[in-house]
Amino acid sequence: MDEKVRRNVLGRIPYGVYVVGVRRGTGEISAFTATWLSQCSFQPPRIMLGVKAGSTGHEMIESDRVLAVSLLASGQKDLAGAFFKRPEVGPGTLNGIPYRPGTNGCPILGGAPAFLECRVVEMLGGGDHTVVVAEVVEAGASREAPPLTLAETGWKYGG
Ligand SMILES: Cc1cc2nc3c(=O)[nH]c(=O)nc-3n(C[C@H](O)[C@H](O)[C@H](O)COP(=O)(O)O)c2cc1C
Repeated sequence: MDEKVRRNVLGRIPYGVYVVGVRRGTGEISAFTATWLSQCSFQPPRIMLGVKAGSTGHEMIESDRVLAVSLLASGQKDLAGAFFKRPEVGPGTLNGIPYRPGTNGCPILGGAPAFLECRVVEMLGGGDHTVVVAEVVEAGASREAPPLTLAETGWKYGG
């Protein structure tokens, strides 16, 4: 296989951009930007997400096996860009961005047009990212909005 072509072709797979909220115990929350996310089952309703091995988000998902996905709207690149590093937690804010805890305790961004709350059912490791399969246990939407896509941001993750 030609590695250059492989990278080029994998880099063409289209993705959305999300902020994944996580928690550990009762006192600790965090969030990270993710793009490798897809629905993977109608019934039960499940999503799968590639989570970077060894990252804080990975550790926290492994620990409490819950997460929340804030879907982002077109134009919310700045919001996504705020979660490449572990955010500073303030009163009701992450990196100064308002959030609220979901019913499972994971943070959901206030500005997100829609969200999912999930419980993890499977973690399939082996590569530099773990495939986290999670069941959707709650969902909400405050408005219709075209999604933020990786293509819109100009960022790359994949290849
Ligand atoms: C464009 C972009 C997309 C990303 N997508 C993912 C993703 O799908 N899954 C993931 O675990 N990390 C993803 N990351 C990395 C996380 O946003 C974050 O940098 C990482 O969780 C921090 O790891 P650390 O705890 O080791 O610092 C992405 C980063 C960028 C810049």
